[in-house]
Amino acid sequence: MYTGMSQENEAAARADFRSDTVTRPGAGMRAAMAEAPVGDDVYGEDPTVRRLEETLAGMAGKPAALFFPSGTQSNLAALLVHCRRGEEYIAGGGYHIFSNEAGGAAVLGGISPFPLACGETGGLTPAQVSAAIKPEDSHYPVSRLLCLENTVSGRVQSLERIDALAAVAHDSGLSVHLDGARVFNAAVALDRPLARLCAPVDSVSICLSKGLGTPVGTVLCGAEDFIRQAVRARKILGGGMRQAGVLAACGLYALEHNLPRLGEDHARARRLAEGLAAIPAMTVEMSAVETNMVFADPGPGHHGPLQRFLAERGIRIAAQEPNIRLVTHLDMDDGAVDLLLEGVRGYYAQAAGKLRTAS
Ligand SMILES: Cc1ncc(COP(=O)(O)O)c(C=O)c1O
Repeated sequence: MYTGMSQENEAAARADFRSDTVTRPGAGMRAAMAEAPVGDDVYGEDPTVRRLEETLAGMAGKPAALFFPSGTQSNLAALLVHCRRGEEYIAGGGYHIFSNEAGGAAVLGGISPFPLACGETGGLTPAQVSAAIKPEDSHYPVSRLLCLENTVSGRVQSLERIDALAAVAHDSGLSVHLDGARVFNAAVALDRPLARLCAPVDSVSICLSKGLGTPVGTVLCGAEDFIRQAVRARKILGGGMRQAGVLAACGLYALEHNLPRLGEDHARARRLAEGLAAIPAMTVEMSAVETNMVFADPGPGHHGPLQRFLAERGIRIAAQEPNIRLVTHLDMDDGAVDLLLEGVRGYYAQAAGKLRTAS
């Protein structure tokens, strides 16, 4: 059957641990794209986009939703709607919306970020947020929004934590936005409905192109009026898409077929972590393995060489220091995990051999 992938691509995807964004649409998803009824979504006439928006709004427990091409654009539109020029948003300093979105809120919105140090599990504390909210004083920007993230580097933020943080923000008149790029992973890990995780926040940005495996797509969910304003913000950020139903169809397919299997990625990440932890030279943060990410330190001087050794064997990893992030996903089976474990063991065996030869 035609899958659109060459054999080399399929092999590469099976052993690509860099991110869950590397997945390629398979035959079922491509068929859904081909069959999707479409219309001009800027006129509000694409039935597949509308069905995706309604479906996700319902799952998130929000009245309305809007389809975006990316998580970055969805987060930025949310910031532009929640905040005016001269206002600020408070966020974890390690959160994507602060550290990895090119300062878009400041560049395009005149909105200043106020980053807070995240704890070991990626969370903020109510006391930190409370202390960060500015009193009414012309010296300060106006604190308008609290931005949270779930999961944070694969770590699940508990319901109690999100509830408490949102309560502090709301009590001071701030709104709360959740970057839920991987919030489905959190819902699966907690075994709670998505709507429960989203209940304390005013808006949530949900990516379909991470663990759910679509090529494109993020859905922003919130109140009717918030989403009406987000349509305008999306226009400012480059405009809407036309017959986008071919892309939305991937999201609907993913909710039906890929969401139910997300737990497999979590189980595979745990198996990977356990396998790596059994290799004496590797240090693995076992307590950090809560969803589909594993963080492992191969030891000083080994990051680049290990990455190159594995690449020569068709296994792709990133080489962040000190901890390499390894991500499991839909285009991966147990064989890929075995391949990586074998590769890492092979790397240290040859490194030990080189040492013996040198001495
Ligand atoms: C937590 C988080 N938020 C937002 C994004 C942005 O998503 P996109 O790459 O679709 O812009 C990412 C991307 O990896 C992410 O990890």
